[in-house]
Parts: sequence; structure tokens; C-alpha cells
Amino acid sequence: MNTAVMSSPETTVHSAQGAPLVVANDLARTFDVSPPWLNRVLERKPRVLLHAVDGVSFSIERGKTLALVGESGCGKSTVARLLVGLYGPTRGGFQFDGQDAHAAFKTSEGRKLRRRIQMIFQDPYASLNPRWIVQDIVGEPLREHGILTDKAALKQRVGELLQSVGLSPLDMGKYPHQFSGGQRQRISIARALATEPEFLVCDEPTSALDVSVQAQVLNIMKDLQRQQGLTYLFISHNLAVVRHVADQVGVMYLGRLIEVADKQALFATPQHPYTRMLLDAIPQMKHTGRARTPVQGEVPNPLNPPTGCAFHPRCPHANARCSAERPKLQALNGVQVACHAVEEGRL
Ligand SMILES: Nc1ncnc2c1ncn2[C@@H]1O[C@H](COP(=O)(O)OP(=O)(O)OP(=O)(O)O)[C@@H](O)[C@H]1O
Ligand code: SF4
Ligand SMILES: [Mg+2]
Repeated sequence: MNTAVMSSPETTVHSAQGAPLVVANDLARTFDVSPPWLNRVLERKPRVLLHAVDGVSFSIERGKTLALVGESGCGKSTVARLLVGLYGPTRGGFQFDGQDAHAAFKTSEGRKLRRRIQMIFQDPYASLNPRWIVQDIVGEPLREHGILTDKAALKQRVGELLQSVGLSPLDMGKYPHQFSGGQRQRISIARALATEPEFLVCDEPTSALDVSVQAQVLNIMKDLQRQQGLTYLFISHNLAVVRHVADQVGVMYLGRLIEVADKQALFATPQHPYTRMLLDAIPQMKHTGRARTPVQGEVPNPLNPPTGCAFHPRCPHANARCSAERPKLQALNGVQVACHAVEEGRL
């Protein structure tokens, strides 16, 4: 297949060749979910911290897609929000194109950085202002960042952006409610692309859409990636979707990454017992030659996480070491995995 030319001027200007665009290093975020101050004083209740993301490290090469998967509440959206600067980290941080992003977000550099990193949310209806016409919605980032102020030029550019996501420039006079769910998500993608970002953080971008429309939107995102050299962090709980879009996959469990691998390796030879369970739950991925173990047990309460390996209450391979010692993410069998049984070669 003919590879598309990476045409974005930003692509060539900024980063060192071959260096990852995004490097997260021990990224952590806790939330204070303590009872109100008065209750704490009167009822002697302690402060309660929820470790939503607890030491996540990964890197994403320019033009590639890292998908994050894991059950509800494992911290995927919190990672996304950390990467676009909506949350500050409690610990650790991330480098974007070699620069400390969270330090930059706080300075005048932050404005430039926000142009280069954009986010697409799950619910396109909630993220689009219902009282604005599409021209204003898609054009807002252009005005906001002072990229285009001339009315005619702005209109022209909005038309181009709409075309790039398969919509018509004639759509720019309409309101969000006049579009289908899939079209609305295309509008949010057009809006996200307005500042010519290099990195898109996509939090379940197709989960709210009908299955028939999901593939269209995913294909548009893949085309845009090829044409513009975009880098994606792609969050999804749907492994079939992940298989379609990802280069690398990170599996999260209770705020930590428990396996990071190239897509092929992850789907062909999943290492971590939790990854295996997730894959076994997908009907069309049965033929792995292993005994199937459906996803079982409940996600533990993040306010009271299990000792040792957080997965041990649900794991068929757990032993005494598992409940006592937390496994570190380490290179094993060609992937990164956090599991004592894999390390000991007893799986
Ligand atoms: N602003 C917040 N304040 C308090 N707790 C929060 C906040 N945001 C997230 N959490 C908690 O942090 C944990 C991780 O939440 P997060 O939304 O990142 O999970 P998720 O993997 O995106 O889940 P889902 O698949 O349901 O979207 C959850 O236990 C959640 O309740
Ligand atoms: S460390 Fe132990 S409990 Fe955790 S996944 Fe591996 S075998 Fe299971
Ligand atoms: Mg989420």
C-alpha cells in the first residue's frame, strides 16, 4: 500500500527524529474524597484519598496509536485528562516533544501546547454547544488561538475542516441537533483538528455511537492519522475497536498499567491473567488454543484496594506472594507485564 505523505508542517518542525512524542513518567493522580470537614471533626472520620491513577509510564511514537483498555473506573479518563492538562498530576508527569508538559501548561508556553494537544470526548452532544451553529463551534478554536480572525478566511477554513471529516461545507449553518450521532462526532473531530494538533487524546470517541456508524468514524480517524501524521491516545473498553485502531495497547487495572504490548503480541499471546480474561470475553477471539476463563469477579473498591497484586482476588493463578507483594511492570517475554506468575514462568 502506498504510504501517505506526512504533510503537516508542525510535524517536521518540532521533534527530534525517532524520539517518542509523548512520554508519561510515573503519572499519578489522587482525588480527595474525604467526608466534609465538619463530619471529619465531629465524627472523627479520616481524610480519604482515592488513587485514580497510580504510577503510569508509557511512551507513544509520533504518528502511532496507544490504546488504553480496562474496566470502568480503572483510571483511563483520568489519564486522558492529565494528558490534556485538565488535571494536574499528584506525582510524576509527562513530556511532550521533549518538554515537561505540566510545567509548560502553567506558563505562557501552555497556550502553544494546548494548540498541539486536543481531546475528543465520548459524548459529542454534550461537548458541542447546542445553541451555536457548526461554523462557530468548529471556528472557535481558530478565533480563540488567534489563528484566523478574518471572517471569510475563517469560513473557508471551517469548510475545509468539515470536508476533511466527510461533511459538507454547507453543514456549517446548522445546529448540532440537526445531525446524527456519528455526524456530531465528526464535528467534534473537525473542531479538535482546527488548531492543527499533533496529539489527539480520544476518550471512548465511538462508544456512544451505533455499531454501524462506529466503523465510519474510526476509519475517518485512521485516514486523518495517515494524512496528518497524528499521534493518538485512544481509550476504549471495546477490544474489537482497539484491535482496529491501535499500534500498541496498554491494559489498566485499578489505576496501574499491568501490560503494555504491541497490538499483535497482545492479541496473539496475552501474558497477564487479566488481559487473558478480557480477551477471552470476546466471542470472535476464542481460538487461542488456551482454556477459556470468562471475566469473573468484581472490580475491587478503589478506596480499599487489595494488597499485593490488585488483581489477586480475581486471579486463578494467585498465590501467597501475589497477595503480599505488588508486581512491577517489567520487560518479560517481549512485552511489559506486571505479574509474578509470568515472571516465575508458571503460567
Ligand atoms: N473528579 C473526581 N473526583 C473523585 N473521584 C474521581 C474523579 N474522577 C475520577 N474519579 C475516580 O477515579 C477512578 C478512575 O476514574 P476514571 O473516570 O478515570 O475511570 P475510567 O477508566 O475512565 O472509567 P469508565 O470506563 O467508566 O469511563 C474512579 O474510581 C472514579 O470514581
Ligand atoms: S501477580 Fe499473581 S495475582 Fe497478580 S495477575 Fe499475576 S498471578 Fe495473578
Ligand atoms: Mg472514562
